[in-house]
Amino acid sequence: QPSPFMDTQKEELSIPRLIRRKRDGEELQGEEICYFVQAVKEGTIQESQIGALLMAIWQHGMEQQEILAMIKEMMVSGTVLQWPKEWCGIVVDKHSTGGVGDKVSLPLAPALAACGYKVPMISGRGLAHTGGTLDKMESVPGFNVDQSPEQITQMLEDVGCCIVGQADSLVPADKILYAIRDITSTVDSLPLITASIMSKKGAESLSALILDVKYGSAALYKSIESARELAHSLVRVGKHLGICTTAVLSKMDNPIGQNIGNSLEVMESIECLKGRGPADLRGLVTSLGAHLLYMCRKADTLQSGMEQIGRVLDNGTALLKFQAMLEAQGVQAGIARSLCQGNGDVDYFRVMGRAQHQEELRAEKEGVVEAIWAMPLAEMCHELGAGRTKAGTPINHRVGIELLVSLGDHVQKGSPWIRVHRGFPALTDNQKSHLQEALVIGNGKNFTTCSRISEVITSESIDNVQVNKTSEVN
Ligand SMILES: *[C@@H]1O[C@H](CO)[C@@H](O)[C@H](O)[C@H]1NC(C)=O
Repeated sequence: QPSPFMDTQKEELSIPRLIRRKRDGEELQGEEICYFVQAVKEGTIQESQIGALLMAIWQHGMEQQEILAMIKEMMVSGTVLQWPKEWCGIVVDKHSTGGVGDKVSLPLAPALAACGYKVPMISGRGLAHTGGTLDKMESVPGFNVDQSPEQITQMLEDVGCCIVGQADSLVPADKILYAIRDITSTVDSLPLITASIMSKKGAESLSALILDVKYGSAALYKSIESARELAHSLVRVGKHLGICTTAVLSKMDNPIGQNIGNSLEVMESIECLKGRGPADLRGLVTSLGAHLLYMCRKADTLQSGMEQIGRVLDNGTALLKFQAMLEAQGVQAGIARSLCQGNGDVDYFRVMGRAQHQEELRAEKEGVVEAIWAMPLAEMCHELGAGRTKAGTPINHRVGIELLVSLGDHVQKGSPWIRVHRGFPALTDNQKSHLQEALVIGNGKNFTTCSRISEVITSESIDNVQVNKTSEVN
């Protein structure tokens, strides 16, 4: 005779029951969440059930305890990377929620390696308008992002950094969940974003992590409030996982740097590694790097951290790390060398190829450049074939956009402001006028440039806010 106790146990851990509980706004128990994540990993749950639970989570959110249980179970659904003991305290990484022209990782990883850190930068493919970090790196002929955990450890030993794809063995549950979120309109859920990002970072066994949470017209989050909410959630989880975590909120209305598009962004990154390139890109690289140095107590102040990163960009040591990383990941030594030649101008296009056609657009009036909206530019790049909206589709690494003006520049009517690198066919009138809308020219009277980073969030700052709130109530 079956015991009634066994029946309740079974009832407690049934998928329909936990979907129903979440649907009704109840908090799930840790064991229910483990049961769900394991079922996802083992394929014993139907996709419709996964979709239903994700939608219930999207609607009702999750408590901190639920998010943590989910992350821990997702982490152990695959390999958790282990590092040699002597690396304790120096394994660091950076994650950005995605911005137009955001190539910060490319100079930052070798710069940190040049400062003595180990940087296992593991990226997902993502479905960005303009290609993700992996797509950018793959525009260098021969670069191979598929590396085993053993190869990653070896590269960190020899070089200090690598930029690799997420192996199938790393957080496999996230891959499945991400694909289903994408087709069920549940991508923009705070607990699900937190779980996806932090399970991957947890599986990298990091000492410290810097997060760049973007907000603005060309970011996932339009308002600073919602970006701040995500940053708080990420920083809190980081602390629980034993990773020193800081988040910055940075504005994403204008593109980062002057180049958008995969190979064009690599060229600009190499310029940054030569101590040149756009000031805003260098500013982000040195600031984000400085936060990591500060968290790891390698810098007493943020200012000194920024100076240390600035020095390795200026004295060629970061560039040498980048060159060594290219070779370690399969690029022929001659190609890596010609890209990273220190002095003089390098013909990057000769090494990395160039799109068939370049087409320039001209400013329609005279004045000061007050804004260059990133979103229309990103959409154009996507139409040109620089990014993908469906996993697995091929992209064109050479197409993209070069900006010929910067914010605050005075431009003449008829002077070229943008160079579109394209294949076939020519831009239509519609596309051209859409692009022209990205350029805002004014009289410059009310124009000021401000730092991209508008707020820094640490676990201490969150605790302080909570203390302040309590005292306000009192
Ligand atoms: C470059 O700068 C870093 C940081 O200050 C320093 O440790 C390193 O020795 C310098 N290298 C060279 C070649 O100047």
